[in-house]
Amino acid sequence: MCGIVGYAGYRQAAPILIEGLSKLEYRGYDSAGICVHTQDAFHVAKSKGRLQILSDKTDGGNAVQGVVGIGHTRWATHGAPSDINSHPHLSESGKIAIVHNGIIENESRLREELEAKGITFRSETDTEVVATMIGIQYDQSGDLVDAVRQTIARLEGSYALGILCVDDPDRIVAVKKNSPLIFGFGEGENYIASDVPAILKHTQTVAYLNDGEMVVFDSQNVSFFDADGNPIEKAKETITWSISAAERGGYDHFMLKEIFEQPKALRDTIGPRLKDGKVYLDGIDLSEEYLKSLNKITFVACGSAYYAAGVAKYIIEKYCRITTEIMMASEFRYCDPVLDEKSLVIAISQSGETADTLEAVREAKRRGARTLGIINVVGSAIAKAADQTIYTCAGPEIAVATTKGFTTQLAVVYLLTMHMAKTLGKVDDTTYAAWVTALEKLPDQAAELLTEARVEEVKNYAKRLTKHNNAFYIGRNLDGATCLEGSLKLKEVAYIHSECYPAGELKHGPLSLIEEGYMVVALATIRELFDKTIANVREVRARGADVLCVTLEELADEAAKQAQSVIAVPSTDPMIQPSLNIIPLQLLGYYIAVNRGCDVDKPRNLAKSVTVE
Ligand code: F6R
Repeated sequence: MCGIVGYAGYRQAAPILIEGLSKLEYRGYDSAGICVHTQDAFHVAKSKGRLQILSDKTDGGNAVQGVVGIGHTRWATHGAPSDINSHPHLSESGKIAIVHNGIIENESRLREELEAKGITFRSETDTEVVATMIGIQYDQSGDLVDAVRQTIARLEGSYALGILCVDDPDRIVAVKKNSPLIFGFGEGENYIASDVPAILKHTQTVAYLNDGEMVVFDSQNVSFFDADGNPIEKAKETITWSISAAERGGYDHFMLKEIFEQPKALRDTIGPRLKDGKVYLDGIDLSEEYLKSLNKITFVACGSAYYAAGVAKYIIEKYCRITTEIMMASEFRYCDPVLDEKSLVIAISQSGETADTLEAVREAKRRGARTLGIINVVGSAIAKAADQTIYTCAGPEIAVATTKGFTTQLAVVYLLTMHMAKTLGKVDDTTYAAWVTALEKLPDQAAELLTEARVEEVKNYAKRLTKHNNAFYIGRNLDGATCLEGSLKLKEVAYIHSECYPAGELKHGPLSLIEEGYMVVALATIRELFDKTIANVREVRARGADVLCVTLEELADEAAKQAQSVIAVPSTDPMIQPSLNIIPLQLLGYYIAVNRGCDVDKPRNLAKSVTVE
């Protein structure tokens, strides 16, 4: 949700800002802008549309002179995408320039207040209101840091702000609340950014700002302050991602690259946690006594992470016999959840910044529950808010549609289930050993699904299915839970209307929609339920649907008697099977989107890291 970057150093700022923004485009891409100190004035360049337009307008930034500046890539919240609404925004006096990520919830009240004082706004944005407020305070005190403090004291909502003052050409002030912001330490140059990829090329030493914290810096000096304005020391953290991890490599899209990175991501997530045939969740305290005291586990998450929680519900209830519920984080806060100290709330989030999930964790804590995060981004807000965190080790995920983020979340869900089942004595040694073996083999089996021949097969089916404008994904039990994610992939990247139903539910209404022109993806990998799902395939086929059935290799011939096409996946332990099943579904969504000419990595209306409610 919007990306911000700032630079103070000895090199020309604008090319660095534009290059940094190109790594943040996944956070928003409806407009972009920069502001650079140029002699005694600001040079502001901004434009609606992709960053490339801004880059062309400024010759990749080379047309803008100056060594201190801020930049922004936008995902519109207040006001439509337009040149005027693009950031940076200036105060009325023109002395202050700011970039902002987040939403100011009391914006209309503040705007009315200022309008009553005769101020006219140029844009519809909440950001211009903030710039104006800082400008007014600065005109009174002549102290930029104080002006920022006075202003943020009146803001409700979320923000990460990068601020320049025309009278102070060397310095940048930045502050955050409920939106991510990192500081990057360089040699004779320093940075701020919403996320690591923006500055990874220049530095791997960063500090993560906490809510309320402020940083004031120039090329040589940096000072951090807490929410009360007291100077603080911030720990320097080293980013271990390689630069290539945040680049597209030879792939056409990040989404495809990230699909192909899954074997490695799974290996990195699982490998260190399996030793001598046993699961080790280092630093995680889930003792037998504690697990036995639990009334229930509640998962909170959004989107794909919520679907990973759906898989968790089935397997935790089956293998640990603990009541497990799943809640969309956006609903959780407002449904007066029944929680107490006997509840464990598990938040799943790739970014660790999703506003609804973060607030759900805070709400759970307020109600006395213990919280556990399953998070990819180290140092993110949810990782900090949760009592304990298990990291997925997917590396940076850039494509808006998650792939390796999801499969590594599943991997942690299996590890957690295995750990709890063992601790509670609910699993016999043979089954546990089979789980461990299956998990060890999972990365190689995932790689098998990504061999050229297998990918080509999905690509061919995608060619045939691209013509359909409506899709249904059906499956039972864990297959149904996995289908939800497959269906989301298709709808978000290929813009195809896609519904997902437990296969047994079709007859209770949705079957009336099925006719010629519908594609149905049926996932039938659970042996005991295979005949039932195949019966549903027969039903939809009889009504004209074009059916692709994904099943186990040993069931493929049987499935082919009913479905027009069949993809066979290798089998593993039933608990772990969803991780293999999802891979062809990811590829299917991807290739159909490519065939339809969609902007796969930046689907319309969406952005990664949804840091607003
Ligand atoms: C879909 C997708 C989203 C995210 C959701 C939660 O492909 O990526 O549905 O899963 O926005 O994001 P995180 O996991 O960052 O909390």
